[in-house]
Amino acid sequence: MLRAPMPSLLNTVKDLDRLRRIVSVLVRHGFGEIVQRTGLGSLVPKSRKSESGVGRGERLKRALVELGPSFIKLGQIASTRPDILPADIVTELKTLQDEVPPEPWEVVQPLLEGELGGPVEEIFESFDNVPLASASIAQVHRARLKTAEGDVREVVVKVQRPQVREIIELDLDLLYWFAHAIERSIPEMRMYQPVKLVGEFDRAISAELDFVAEADHADRFRENFKSHRSVRFPQVYREASSRRVLVLEFFDGLKLGDAIANHGFDGEVVAKVAIDIIIQQIFEDGFFHADPHPGNLFIMGTPSSPVIAMFDLGLVGHLTPKLRDQTIDLMVAAVREDYRGIADALWAIGSPSRRVDREAFEAEVTIVAQKYLGKKLKDIELSALLKDLVDGARRFDVEVPSGFLMMGKALMTVEGIGKEIYPDLDIFNEVRPYFLRLIQQRYSPERVTQDVIRGVLRLSNAASDAPLQIQEILEDARRGTFRVQVQERSLREAADRLGRRLFSGLVVSAGLIGGCLLLAADKRWTGWALLIGSGSYAMMHSTLVYWLNRRDRVERD
Ligand SMILES: Nc1ncnc2c1ncn2[C@@H]1O[C@H](COP(=O)(O)OP(=O)(O)O)[C@@H](O)[C@H]1O
Ligand SMILES: [Mg+2]
Repeated sequence: MLRAPMPSLLNTVKDLDRLRRIVSVLVRHGFGEIVQRTGLGSLVPKSRKSESGVGRGERLKRALVELGPSFIKLGQIASTRPDILPADIVTELKTLQDEVPPEPWEVVQPLLEGELGGPVEEIFESFDNVPLASASIAQVHRARLKTAEGDVREVVVKVQRPQVREIIELDLDLLYWFAHAIERSIPEMRMYQPVKLVGEFDRAISAELDFVAEADHADRFRENFKSHRSVRFPQVYREASSRRVLVLEFFDGLKLGDAIANHGFDGEVVAKVAIDIIIQQIFEDGFFHADPHPGNLFIMGTPSSPVIAMFDLGLVGHLTPKLRDQTIDLMVAAVREDYRGIADALWAIGSPSRRVDREAFEAEVTIVAQKYLGKKLKDIELSALLKDLVDGARRFDVEVPSGFLMMGKALMTVEGIGKEIYPDLDIFNEVRPYFLRLIQQRYSPERVTQDVIRGVLRLSNAASDAPLQIQEILEDARRGTFRVQVQERSLREAADRLGRRLFSGLVVSAGLIGGCLLLAADKRWTGWALLIGSGSYAMMHSTLVYWLNRRDRVERD
């Protein structure tokens, strides 16, 4: 028996077997050095020869595929983090698909019957043994469900693969251990934040494994959108569902691309509906689909009134009212190019726990601001700016609420879809009514707390050449005993002027902090790069400000 490098973790032979397998796959694909340095060298089979002449991205991808569902998923998540992983690896991981062959019916049937407590024929009037989709965690079958009322309903049955939870849990344990080992023993890999990446992966994959949560989310979305006629979420048949089996209303819909290319649906109309839906989810409900990519929606209805059906609701994001307010404060400060306001807002959002020397911090802010501001946009070297940002994030271990980051990702995903099906999409036009309402609500008399009063006072005292209208709004707020006395019309004008910056600023700040901005390297995000360039510049330094803030704090401690 090999010497177990982690006695506390490796309790069973199964663990050790799995670890040995992981190690041997890694070595075979040319990652022997990492294995050696993390102290797992004793598990390395002597005779193996690693492949040569293949890029590390490709080798990593092959290793992940060989290691199965959890590693494929890990690779997919890693591919959305170009801020921490090198470009060659990201490019390769982006092509990772979870093309896992479906489980045979002989395996699925007993699992299903065990979960549902009865024979398939009793519960369903008919059941299609051949799945219509299969991925790493679950596969989806069509069926006709007999309801308690004696009706028959068209449904899909999402069944988790046997053992998938156990395998993932085991892999997670090993991955955490491995990530810690890497951070401990390979300093030059620390910047890739392996432990954080595994944590992110843990949250995402755990959400997908929890079908009860997915059912709850479906109900909550249905409730939130019950008067909205352009969106549908599947009804859940709880009587036939369990932790590992989910029976949902069947949507007879079209894939997005197909609907537009072959069925007369109009990209413009569909894009606007999609934006409308995600904006309501984020800003009104604070409860949103965290992964609204085209594979998780269908187009239904008619070309003149399309309906978007959304599914795969395991992973959702939350934006609390407090975080939403802080986000608005941040945007207002960014629009005013008010560094202190920006710093304060980011400070509040990131809720840092340590103290900082504000004066030193503001001096730093000025230095960085001078580096980037006052330049023409085209003269700004985006990669340099990003490098500062990313370096800052790494050094200071920025803790931004996951809801904020997820919001940025969800918005970017929907914006990306929108641009793809309707290149002229002017997202601001779509979101303007929401911003009007948000600004109104945020500074409405009932909502004006001490915090806001202080903020408004300080803001109105600060010298600034920010657009006049927002100044006026804030000035009104101050003068009128903190009542917003502006007319709807002037608010509208202000929002018109500011809205573009507000919106892109919002996304960019979330995106930057989460590292999503680098997605702009991908063609699909060119539109975003432009938006970022034209509008939300202010947010870039706001983020810088924040990180500088953190650095200052760290250096003091
Ligand atoms: N309610 C539904 N009606 C019709 N097809 C569905 C429904 N839910 C899921 N599907 C199909 O099954 C596929 C996988 O389901 P999904 O919930 O996205 O699971 P996964 O987590 O594997 O992505 C979807 O891409 C879609 O094609
Ligand atoms: Mg899906």
